[in-house]
Amino acid sequence: MVKVLFVCLGNICRSPTAHGVFQKMVEQQGLEDHIVVDSAGTAAYHVGNPPDRRSTEAAKQREYDLSVLRARQAIIADFSEFDYILAMDFENLSNLKAIQPAGYQGHLGLFLDFSEMQEDEVPDPYYGGAAGFEHVLDLVESASFGLLQHIKKGL
Ligand code: 4NP
Repeated sequence: MVKVLFVCLGNICRSPTAHGVFQKMVEQQGLEDHIVVDSAGTAAYHVGNPPDRRSTEAAKQREYDLSVLRARQAIIADFSEFDYILAMDFENLSNLKAIQPAGYQGHLGLFLDFSEMQEDEVPDPYYGGAAGFEHVLDLVESASFGLLQHIKKGL
């Protein structure tokens, strides 16, 4: 079993989008018995909340269902649980590195390292307009495809 955790700041925009998109790709390939997907935020502002409505609506247009997801904060125990902990931006990564236990054997890095697009970070869409949410989806779809190809090689 390979376990993947997507992490952003609030766990209401970027990482739930990654969670929903990657989960659907896993299911479409019949790999749900091999790959477990979750998401979390480095901050606790939105714990227990559903994803931002703008993320849910943009995802729905592309036939991804984010409605069942609820925000939680990333915790140190996640490092005992997850093989891949993938940050949306450098700040999220730096905050995760600060709580990473010594000897973590998994992969802690940027999600977009698995994308062939040029960007390193999934930009925070929270204070911007609709185009930002579409861009999040474009980046997330690209990196999810690359991540799944990568994980499948090791199954
Ligand atoms: P996310 O977006 O990290 O992609 O979930 C944000 C959500 C909320 C806030 C910032 C970013 N906030 O400041 O409340």
